[in-house]
Amino acid sequence: MTATAVVLAAGMGTRMKSSLPKVMHLVAGVPMLHHVVAAALEAVDEVLVVVGHGRELVTGYLASAFDQRVRTVVQEPQRGTGHAVQIAMSAIEPATAEVLVLCGDTPLLDGDALRGLLGHLRDDPRAELALYFAESSEESYGRVLFDLGRPTAIREARDCSEEEAAVQTKNLGVYAFRAGFLRETLPRLTTKNAQGELYLTDLVELAAGRARGVEAREARFQGVNTRAHLAAADASRRAEIIAAHIDAGASIGPGAVIDQPVTIEPDAVIGPYAVLRGRTRIGRGARVDVGCVLDDVVVHANARLKPYSVLADSEVGEDAHVGPFSHLRPRSRLGRGAHVGNFVETKNTQLGDGAKANHLAYLGDGEIGAKANVGAGTIFCNYDGFQKHKTTIGAGAFVGCDTQLVAPVTVGAGAYVATGTTVTKDVPADALAIGRVAQANKEGYASRLNGRLKAAADAAKAKKSGEGE
Ligand code: UD1
Ligand code: CA
Repeated sequence: MTATAVVLAAGMGTRMKSSLPKVMHLVAGVPMLHHVVAAALEAVDEVLVVVGHGRELVTGYLASAFDQRVRTVVQEPQRGTGHAVQIAMSAIEPATAEVLVLCGDTPLLDGDALRGLLGHLRDDPRAELALYFAESSEESYGRVLFDLGRPTAIREARDCSEEEAAVQTKNLGVYAFRAGFLRETLPRLTTKNAQGELYLTDLVELAAGRARGVEAREARFQGVNTRAHLAAADASRRAEIIAAHIDAGASIGPGAVIDQPVTIEPDAVIGPYAVLRGRTRIGRGARVDVGCVLDDVVVHANARLKPYSVLADSEVGEDAHVGPFSHLRPRSRLGRGAHVGNFVETKNTQLGDGAKANHLAYLGDGEIGAKANVGAGTIFCNYDGFQKHKTTIGAGAFVGCDTQLVAPVTVGAGAYVATGTTVTKDVPADALAIGRVAQANKEGYASRLNGRLKAAADAAKAKKSGEGE
């Protein structure tokens, strides 16, 4: 027996007040539709997403994030949830025995809830469909009417009589159907309702007592219709993600923000207010301290990111140290035990194992050999106004403070660049490069200079007050 999930995602989501299709809004760093499809894939082998508004964007995203088990079908125009499932059925494998139907705007769903509902349908030979309901004060949800313990109808909010409107038993919008029942009854839906749409929920009445209602916890099925719902769903999902990381052996400080795709190995410590985004991976025993922001960063085991460092699309080697206040821009790679300290900016630069740049530097488009030392105030002058050029520093080289390396340029292995040098020519391995103006000392000159400068200042002041009178 095979089951397929149909995810309804063709609607516009007007109440979001956004040009982005509703299901593409982010919850824990990925589109909310992603959470729904991922939950569905835990329960079934094939997912069919009904797309409409913004379908290029939605289809493109699904193709990039999932494999061929996820397909799309277009509903245009959108004539209601029943119409959406009619269109989906035309694209479903004939061998499909059961069909789960869910909405793309319920990002808190999980695989357990969906597997559970399929189980309830399979366990009940008299049921053609199973649905989740909850006692809820949400006014917009459909009312589930019961007789002898079986749901007999769902009344949409806008179609309710006064008596029905008072019913608190609400439809949570997730269903499991026998495929044969859908094929037989979908064509019988009508648009005789307040919205003139084909309601999927009318199938409950058409099941004539062969429906099964399963009570559930409302929070798991929370729909997102507004930005306020989105913020609430984001907070819930992130709280779950953090709980799961803690459960798996990481320490997570208060206020940390962690996207869904992030992975964290045991014994890692994530400090307060750290933000881990995208495909960031934190290795075993690594420490990401207060306020660090990481976007698509790989941090290897036992590395240490000190407070307020900002890293994107970069890699930090085992036992490496970064920060506080370092900025690693895309394609920075630190080797094992490398150090990058405060107010150091790197971009497209590799530091070999044990290499150090501990203070105040710009290292762009560079390659720094193992155990090289880059002094405070060093600048890789990588840009000539038209092109970017590469700076290479050999293993074990020493670059003194306040050095400018005018790229393209190479400092050989073990070479020594004296403080204050502007390096414009390659430095051979083991050579000393020194380029600075010779220093002159003038004995007793400081007090004479001060006297002269003070006299000039006094004269200027006197002249100004004379003009004022
Ligand atoms: C629906 C249910 C309601 C239930 C609620 C739970 C119906 C008629 N009503 O109401 O009983 O309490 O969900 O959240 O089903 N969509 C399409 N094509 C369409 C229309 C809608 O793909 O033609 C999609 C939407 O993008 C959305 C989902 O279906 O993801 C639900 O549609 P929506 O209009 O939000 O239904 P609700 O009013 O929430
Ligand atoms: Ca909805």
